[in-house]
Amino acid sequence: MEKITIIGLGNMGGALVRGLEKSPLQSALSIDVYDLDPQRVKACGAHVRGLSSLEEIELDNNILIFCVKPQDLVTIGKVLKGRLKKNVLIVSILAGKKTATIARELQFDGPIVRAMPNIAAVIGFAATAMCANEKCETLEKQHAEQIFKAVGEAYWTKESLMDAVTGLSGSGPAYIYMVIEALSDGGLKMGMPRDLAFKLATQTVLGSAALVKHTGLHPAILKDQVTTPAGTTISALHVLEERGLRSMFVNAVEKATLRSIELGKDE
Ligand SMILES: NC(=O)c1ccc[n+]([C@@H]2O[C@H](COP(=O)([O-])OP(=O)(O)OC[C@H]3O[C@@H](n4cnc5c(N)ncnc54)[C@H](OP(=O)(O)O)[C@@H]3O)[C@@H](O)[C@H]2O)c1
Repeated sequence: MEKITIIGLGNMGGALVRGLEKSPLQSALSIDVYDLDPQRVKACGAHVRGLSSLEEIELDNNILIFCVKPQDLVTIGKVLKGRLKKNVLIVSILAGKKTATIARELQFDGPIVRAMPNIAAVIGFAATAMCANEKCETLEKQHAEQIFKAVGEAYWTKESLMDAVTGLSGSGPAYIYMVIEALSDGGLKMGMPRDLAFKLATQTVLGSAALVKHTGLHPAILKDQVTTPAGTTISALHVLEERGLRSMFVNAVEKATLRSIELGKDE
């Protein structure tokens, strides 16, 4: 992997640029960036070369990472259609856009990786799932993996599961923000200052996730370890079970998955 061009420098594109700039890949890579907004191009670091139009993108031996909104694929398609060499690798993070759709929009017969990262890429903690079309060889898959491992963790899956990935880890940060907000409100209701409640709630979510990861234990085992007979925690857990917290999350992931499928059909 020598050359990368990142198209679209919003939340996710910007995070990828920062992640790649900080990663060991940086020294081996030449990174081009392009966004409609020249200020966003300027804001990228010194190791990056800014392009001033889509026409300047190198069409040969390049990894193109699409980070624009799904509806903007058409605009990019108009410029790149039928012009990309087969040794280009396309990496798309566009929600709902299938590899076959991208191939069609660009009239491109080469390797395409579809990835779904999440917003934690901004701080190098993304959970990303990826799938590859049949034109991808091992080397291209390695390249895609290196890119997303520069901003967090990355796993391979099949394309039929990408909508479920969107429903779980793509949209997931929003669910957890709601949990943090709700826990803080609980502290507030019990008389805590807002600031303290917020800090305790945030660190509790962070620490609990870190412990699951660090020990490799099933969350149910960790939950049992902190639940004592007739104690405070079991009283709270009883309420959460009674009000259906588990099915609420299962249903939330299902709903988001179905919405992702629906959006994919609109194309
Ligand atoms: N945000 C998330 O949590 C998340 C998670 C997973 C996947 N994704 C996917 O990531 C993609 C980007 O999301 P985002 O949140 O980063 O969006 P965003 O913040 O709106 O960034 C998109 C950027 O692309 C620019 N752009 C639009 N058309 C362009 C073109 N033709 N050429 C170059 N740049 C262009 C936009 O400029 P303007 O603002 O001027 O239009 C904007 O700066 C989406 O497809 C989304 O499905 C997002």
